[in-house]
Amino acid sequence: MCGIVGYVGRQKAAAIMLEGLKRLEYRGYDSAGLAVLQNNGLTLVKCIGRVAALAKLASGKKLTGTCGISHTRWATHGGVTDANAHPHVSSDGQIALVHNGVIENYVHMKRFLLEKGYTFKSETDTEVLANLIAYHYAKQPEPAVNGEGSRFLEAVRKTLLHVEGTYGIAVLSPAHPGELVAARKGSPLILGVGDHEHLIASDVSALVSRTQNVVYLKDGELVHVTPAGFTLSTLDLADVSPVIDQVTWSVDEAELGEHPHFMRKEIFEQPLALENAMRGRFSADGSSANFGGLNLTPADFRTIDRFVFTSCGTGWHACLVAEHLIERFARIPVEVDYASEFRYRNAPLDRDALFFVISQSGETIDTLAALREAKRKGYKCMAICNVVGSTIAREADGGIYQHAGPEIGVASTKAFTSQLLIAAMFALYVARMRDMSFADGVEYVAGLKAVPDLARRVLEQAPHIQQIALRYAKYNDFLFLGRLSLFPIALEGALKLKEISYIHAEGYPAAEMKHGPIALISDQCPSVFLVPKGELFNKVLSSMQEIKARKGLIIAIVPECLDLPEGLADEVITIPDCHEAALPVLATIPVQLLSYYIAVARGCDVDKPRNLAKSVTVE
Ligand code: G6P
Repeated sequence: MCGIVGYVGRQKAAAIMLEGLKRLEYRGYDSAGLAVLQNNGLTLVKCIGRVAALAKLASGKKLTGTCGISHTRWATHGGVTDANAHPHVSSDGQIALVHNGVIENYVHMKRFLLEKGYTFKSETDTEVLANLIAYHYAKQPEPAVNGEGSRFLEAVRKTLLHVEGTYGIAVLSPAHPGELVAARKGSPLILGVGDHEHLIASDVSALVSRTQNVVYLKDGELVHVTPAGFTLSTLDLADVSPVIDQVTWSVDEAELGEHPHFMRKEIFEQPLALENAMRGRFSADGSSANFGGLNLTPADFRTIDRFVFTSCGTGWHACLVAEHLIERFARIPVEVDYASEFRYRNAPLDRDALFFVISQSGETIDTLAALREAKRKGYKCMAICNVVGSTIAREADGGIYQHAGPEIGVASTKAFTSQLLIAAMFALYVARMRDMSFADGVEYVAGLKAVPDLARRVLEQAPHIQQIALRYAKYNDFLFLGRLSLFPIALEGALKLKEISYIHAEGYPAAEMKHGPIALISDQCPSVFLVPKGELFNKVLSSMQEIKARKGLIIAIVPECLDLPEGLADEVITIPDCHEAALPVLATIPVQLLSYYIAVARGCDVDKPRNLAKSVTVE
């Protein structure tokens, strides 16, 4: 949700920023822009469209400056126009700024600035910030009191004291060549510490080609950056000692390689991501799991009488699977809530509830707000996150890192199945503290350890699924139906298809289909059935018969040990037999591939679907 890259160093800033923006483009892609300091002034280039359009425009200019800021936008305030693209420059030309977030009190500040004679070219909240910094800058005593750059820093700090809302910003001024000021509140921002150069970015993917050393800014912190160094402080003027972290993944992991899309690459990386989720996490006796990062003892777990899981989007579906598995195997009640609802509905929680959030990026604002709300009420909060050092990961009391590697495609794939596997391991962990036997634990562990190889076998069916997708890409409505732990996978299948192919799709518990969605069934609305083993197999067969009786088309995803009655399904995709706890993971892969190939067949931009952003850092 808007990507920021800033650079100050010895190299040409524009080329470095454009490379960073390309890597951040999944955060927003309706317009892009950059500003560099050169020839004693500011050169600004911005346009609607993708980063490639910006690069083309920039190639026509002589951009030699070594200090700059840049941005890729996902519109919030103001439509998608050149004027609304960032950077925004104050009307006196003194301040240029890029912003990720929402300034809530911008109307009031804009009125004030108009009275003071500042003018506006855009409809954005961001331009208000640029002008307000310019206003405070003009009011600062001259020359600088506390050394080089402090007047600039002070103007940014004073402005931010008046701001309500969220922001990650990077600011430059033609009066201060070779300096950047950046700050955050509620939107992620990272400082990259390089060799005689520094970078500012919304996430590490934009930095890793230049440095592995990063400082994760915290809310309320500002950083003043020059090629030679940086100083970190808070809005209330306290100095902060920086902690420099090492990024563990390399730039190659965020490259497409031989794949046409990141989504395809990430679907095929799932066996490895699943192995990484389990690595070192089973007990020595092979009957349980270990999670060192939870910072809780078995005795702590004995007192827990309920888990509360919250998340957004795909992560919410992982919460539903966690609910099923924990209740089924550990017999502890689980409540699942959308983070965006939890934060406002003032839910009564049990005294001994343990709170969990699931977030791939660790930056989703609603999930972060839910975590903070639960912490405010005194609950211990755990996080399941993929991005190391993300805000949610840092603010949680403990957690489980997914180690799935960078996920770039906007539609989450490998991060989701990794969350499902971690949920399965966590269910085992708490089940073994309660009533699950050693023998059942050993069987469960063996079942999970088999998952990466079984996932490889599902992936071998990609050509078969592609053929099905080609036959079904013409339909505009789909139903996805499943039961118990496969119901969340039906929801996920419908979400994936909606997100990337813009086909209307609904996920339902298979038996609920007859209470409404059955009205949609015709030969123009195919149903994707996730068929379970066990006692519900025959019930699902009955649901399939009801669809067939109404001329509905059926794609069935079926464990290979089951035989469907001849002719009941129009298409069959099999998944290998597996432990019950592993079934959601394996059943997910065919719905991912189906959505992917349908979207490709319809000519959609699967990695950057319209209107979506990978990481939603505004409400
Ligand atoms: C956005 C993405 C979804 C993702 C959701 C939650 O809506 O488009 O793919 O599931 O955010 O993201 P998180 O990073 O918190 O898991």
